[in-house]
Amino acid sequence: MARLDRLLANLGYGSRKEVQALVAGGKVVLDGAILKDAGARIAVDATLPERMTIRGAPVDPPAPLVLIMHKPLGVVCSHKEDGEKIYDLLPRRWRLRDPGLSTVGRLDKDTSGLILITDDGDFLHRVISPKRHVPKTYLATLDRPLNGSEGEVFAAGTLMLDSEEKPLLPARLDVVNAHAARLTITEGRYHQVRRMFAAVGNHVVALHRERIGGIALPDDLAAGQHRILTAAAAEQVFADG
Ligand code: URA
Repeated sequence: MARLDRLLANLGYGSRKEVQALVAGGKVVLDGAILKDAGARIAVDATLPERMTIRGAPVDPPAPLVLIMHKPLGVVCSHKEDGEKIYDLLPRRWRLRDPGLSTVGRLDKDTSGLILITDDGDFLHRVISPKRHVPKTYLATLDRPLNGSEGEVFAAGTLMLDSEEKPLLPARLDVVNAHAARLTITEGRYHQVRRMFAAVGNHVVALHRERIGGIALPDDLAAGQHRILTAAAAEQVFADG
């Protein structure tokens, strides 16, 4: 249960005062009836947008929220970095949400593909936890033709990246053609895929993430678009791909 004014303020509809005015103005409707008391206690679950409207539009989805996004090239995942941010691709009001939304791990500015975004800290930490080894699959396009030995080198579990102290865990390479391969890794080291190909004398010219655990980027989710995942769909990230 949540107090109506706190719920709406946390969803970014305004300050407590502003949402109290919204309620007083008869703009908040639950199950077809206008809510008059900003202090009313409301049962909150994922079905709320089907039951509540604000100024005639379904209320935004409450926390906990997990989104799947097709990250386009050229946007950054960090709140702090300069440049267009992935959060700019979401509805404006969502920037004011509390708890706020964060990406589950990061993709480089020059990497496209599947990224999860959530306000659920527990879910986020479970996905990125080094203990869980959630596999992530990238399609890498390469400057030079593959030489045929990369798969073995990546699978060995002995590859050391520059300025690191621990070898990489075994990773799986599936060759697509001479200049493209799918690489599945279970860690999230800085620029890991680009650095792995650099370590075998190649250079990644394009990088796209296709899958995290049991969640694949849907073909019909265009770059820049997002979708809300049900709790069950989000948990698929922990299922075997
Ligand atoms: N590896 C990279 O090099 N970049 C990414 O964005 C993700 C993995």
